[in-house]
Amino acid sequence: MTPEEQLEKIAQEVTICTRCKLHHSRKNSVPGEGPANAQIMFIGEGPGFHENEQGRPFVGAAGQFLEELLAAINMKRTDVFIANVVKCRPPSNRDPEPEELLACGDYLERQIQAINPQVIVTLGRFSMARFLPNAKISQIHGQAVTVNGRLIVAMYHPAAALHQRSLRPVIEADFARLPALISKPPRSEQIDAPTPEPKKEPPKQLTLF
Ligand code: URA
Ligand code: SF4
Repeated sequence: MTPEEQLEKIAQEVTICTRCKLHHSRKNSVPGEGPANAQIMFIGEGPGFHENEQGRPFVGAAGQFLEELLAAINMKRTDVFIANVVKCRPPSNRDPEPEELLACGDYLERQIQAINPQVIVTLGRFSMARFLPNAKISQIHGQAVTVNGRLIVAMYHPAAALHQRSLRPVIEADFARLPALISKPPRSEQIDAPTPEPKKEPPKQLTLF
């Protein structure tokens, strides 16, 4: 299956999923959206009111702010993949519960495998905890950390910055660092790049092989 086909299959499964109790109260599941070859993947917490209505991620106030943050670095939401750690809205926007995170985690993992992004940006503590279980957001926000060979950048949730004005310049500065992180050639190009000239080895070393 191509990455596009894999993402489509995951979205179909999520649409009818009953793996956890969040399926009882949802109106629409929110699988996530974006190009299969996205270099950056944003992972939020879970659908809110508007996302549940529309079946699309980050379409409310936090989503509008996310789009503004992207625009400031010359990116559009259609350039990136946007997903959540749970795909159905927790009632009254309560925190997702451990068994819900566990039940839904496989969908997110398959999305990451299909997209294979250079950078994952976590938005909010449940998303951060998936990759950096012991991290403190106040200490590591905006920093690129390598986890399983992939860059993870934890950021404050845009909704937090909407509620707490002082976080706005912080999240803006963290976004400003993203273009440099993806300016390196994609991994596939790095693999194809010519390997450096091998040093001439003394003949006797060849017997090692
Ligand atoms: N907040 C999130 O974490 N995810 C969404 O999709 C919308 C708001
Ligand atoms: Fe399924 Fe995830 Fe929705 Fe739970 S939150 S019903 S695991 S798609």
